[in-house]
Amino acid sequence: MIKHAEITERKGMNMNILSPSILSADFAKLGEQIEIMDKAGAQYVHIDVMDGLFVPSISYGMPLIQSIRKVTDRVFDVHLMIEKPERYIDEFVKCGADIITFHVEATEKTGEIIDAIHEKGIRAGISIKPNTQVDILKPYLDKVDMILVMTVEPGFGGQAYIDFCTDKVREVRKMVQESGRDIDIQVDGGINKENIGMVLEAGANVVVAGSAVFKGNIAENVKYFLQQMA
Ligand code: DX5
Ligand code: ZN
Repeated sequence: MIKHAEITERKGMNMNILSPSILSADFAKLGEQIEIMDKAGAQYVHIDVMDGLFVPSISYGMPLIQSIRKVTDRVFDVHLMIEKPERYIDEFVKCGADIITFHVEATEKTGEIIDAIHEKGIRAGISIKPNTQVDILKPYLDKVDMILVMTVEPGFGGQAYIDFCTDKVREVRKMVQESGRDIDIQVDGGINKENIGMVLEAGANVVVAGSAVFKGNIAENVKYFLQQMA
């Protein structure tokens, strides 16, 4: 099991990882539901932060992350859907993030932010929305730890997977292979029991799933995904 403190030491990335998105959890039972997914074997906890500007909705922020940090040692995979993420890197590190992923569309300081995240000793991810070209990622391949290819328009859980995004995952996998670096490729949005095989085949290795994990029996859903990913 990869623990909170061990994340920066993780070698040999590109193992398959399930990162359930707690956006689809029942917030009245959040701690309990995180414990269930942890015990069932989910390696990461995907935490979607929305500011009502970069995306229409507003979700949750630092106080919630700090509070659930007490519940699990699993890796906190924080997905910032906020304008100018450079304003909040220190705060998200302080409240317990292990990976911070931000959108290249939300800032003009992508390179500086990756450096700032690394200076804090945690991992940095960059993300593109479905209609952003993958070429925008190229200048950062020499230092980024993870690339998140959004497979829905960011902003809400429970949306349908956008089919053309599968080709983007393939393109990103090719770019990563050519870079020679061990960069994780994450997919997020509309992933379910039917399309998980397809995204893995396209080259993703970190899979976010919100509604597909939290609707129904959480432990059984997690185990199903993990079996598909083994
Ligand atoms: C959407 C978020 C996702 C969301 C995924 O903007 O980034 O992480 O929770 O939910 P599902 O898996 O239900 O599409
Ligand atoms: Zn997300």
